[in-house]
Amino acid sequence: MDKDGNFQISNFKNYFGEYYFRKIGPKKIEYNICWQINQNPHPNIVKFYGINSQRLDMEILDTPFDIANETDAIKLIENMVCARNYLLDNGIVYIDWKLDNIGWSTKDQVFKLFDFDLAGLFNPVTNQWVDEPEKLFAYKSAVECNIFDPIGIDSFSFNKMVDNLLVQY
Ligand SMILES: Nc1ncnc2c1ncn2[C@@H]1O[C@H](COP(=O)(O)OP(=O)(O)O)[C@@H](O)[C@H]1O
Ligand SMILES: [Mg+2]
Repeated sequence: MDKDGNFQISNFKNYFGEYYFRKIGPKKIEYNICWQINQNPHPNIVKFYGINSQRLDMEILDTPFDIANETDAIKLIENMVCARNYLLDNGIVYIDWKLDNIGWSTKDQVFKLFDFDLAGLFNPVTNQWVDEPEKLFAYKSAVECNIFDPIGIDSFSFNKMVDNLLVQY
């Protein structure tokens, strides 16, 4: 259950006895984006098993995970650059870049991104919003620095995450 008490996250087993992660009650924009990603999956984005307007079923990732050294930090950054390029090419602006929204896949030995709650849709040619997301912390931080365009806002948040990682390791 989230802080508002209207959003549930739990583990269920599928027909094959495998556990998967279920996020209940996605917002419309989150559902639309996950649906779009599911049409054309990417190795650095969580794998969806089933999506509808009521729930998102996906693979379980290790979260939180340990970053032991610079090699791990660089791998995470490289994996997230790939995820970000894929999203921007497909008109999706992630914005809420933070380690809380990234998991480790033991099976695939890569980091994967999840949580498209605060992501938006934009036109990659004009860099204009098509469906603007809720303006929460990461979005507002960019606006405070006079950055208003979708790619700029996304870069601002992504670079902050990368800077924090590189300072630490
Ligand atoms: N696929 C997943 N596998 C494992 N844990 C997950 C997964 N998706 C979400 N979680 C856990 O649930 C938490 C909240 O999910 P998230 O999608 O980030 O929702 P919120 O919008 O509330 O941040 C995450 O920080 C993570 O700990
Ligand atoms: Mg989250």
